[in-house]
Amino acid sequence: MQGMINALLVHDESVPAPLVAEHLPEESEIRVAEVVDTLYPANDAVKRSDADVLVVACQEGSEAALNLIGWWRSARPGRPIVVLCLGTSNGYVEEAFNAGADDLLAMDEGPLVSDSTKQHIEFALRKALARTSTLPEQNVDYGKIICVLGPKGGIGKTVTSCNLSVALATRGIRTVLVDLDLQFGDCALSLGLTPDTTSFDLAISGGSLDAEKLDAFLLTHSSGLRVLAAPARPDQAASVSAEFIADVFGVLREQFDFVIADTPPSFTPEVITTIDASTAICMVGMLDALSLKNTRLGMETLDLMGYDPGRVRIVLNRANTSVGITRADVLSILGRNPDILVPSHRDIARSVNEGSPVVISQRRSEAARAFESLATLFGSAAESEEPNPRKGRGLIRGRN
Ligand SMILES: Nc1ncnc2c1ncn2[C@@H]1O[C@H](COP(=O)(O)OP(=O)(O)OP(=O)(O)O)[C@@H](O)[C@H]1O
Ligand SMILES: [Mg+2]
Repeated sequence: MQGMINALLVHDESVPAPLVAEHLPEESEIRVAEVVDTLYPANDAVKRSDADVLVVACQEGSEAALNLIGWWRSARPGRPIVVLCLGTSNGYVEEAFNAGADDLLAMDEGPLVSDSTKQHIEFALRKALARTSTLPEQNVDYGKIICVLGPKGGIGKTVTSCNLSVALATRGIRTVLVDLDLQFGDCALSLGLTPDTTSFDLAISGGSLDAEKLDAFLLTHSSGLRVLAAPARPDQAASVSAEFIADVFGVLREQFDFVIADTPPSFTPEVITTIDASTAICMVGMLDALSLKNTRLGMETLDLMGYDPGRVRIVLNRANTSVGITRADVLSILGRNPDILVPSHRDIARSVNEGSPVVISQRRSEAARAFESLATLFGSAAESEEPNPRKGRGLIRGRN
């Protein structure tokens, strides 16, 4: 995002302006252009404001703040609202999101404000702005972004991402795989590619990001799949910010039919940004009680973020393993049936070691057929190519 970003800060007497100022980012391109000291939406300064983002600072329970949020949501569509709240009972959080807030964060009581709170607020502002800046324009043909998620390590996210991507690319569909496991990503190696260029190299290359430049940093697989590899070393991960990832998606989805994102087993800022930008989610779970419980938690988190459950597909990996869990157990833990069942297969471990996904090396295997079905499921889905429209909800970060 170029240039300065203007924020309109609106607060009332219960939250003093100096305390709010302490919470906001310093030395950032996000600046408070105007401060209004009443939450009354019909206030002239609020009505006149052309700010890029609204920051509402209020006490929990403030009805006036809810009215203001609702007014801004309808009068300034596409301009995000971030709420800073003194006290955050769950009930009020819910009401603020329902009114149209994009994010709600708890304020520190002051007078000192922790660095961590400041960072969370800056991140929330950037995230809300990145989300609106990556919204597609009407007349451009945009690709679908599929975020492969699974809140536990070693359950088959990378195996699924690689096989799904190669299955799509083999069908002649323009596909790019982005490895968002920034510390320990292994997509390139799983595909037998040498990661000569990575997202770290791209992030530190400087200058503006466009299709031609990005292309030079993508690896090419024999199937035609392009890959943006993860940084070579964990210490390089910090250079690849969530905002940068949002920009990368913005460029990639103009060039490709499918952007597949492989993720680490946690909701990192990059992952949250990707969920926001995605058109669908592929949730990977494994057939054991702990893993299924985590999958359920992951789905609940998506729900909290306002993600449309109709856009979530569930892959149950190692689904044939005999571990004493029945289909009925799976249904009762997950609350719905998985869309695709991938069996356990020794060739999968071998395929990872040899860098050749089963959809190529073991095409007739049941596992390969399952990944092909997954590609068909996403490839033929009549889903919108708009990113998931959030219903004004966000992840809630509490006080530290
Ligand atoms: N269906 C399967 N059958 C046999 N082995 C499998 C299967 N799925 C995954 N594996 C094995 O499990 C290992 C871990 O899978 P994978 O790397 O895809 O997990 P992950 O969820 O990406 O883990 P992490 O969160 O650590 O990145 C693979 O290297 C492979 O050996
Ligand atoms: Mg992985």
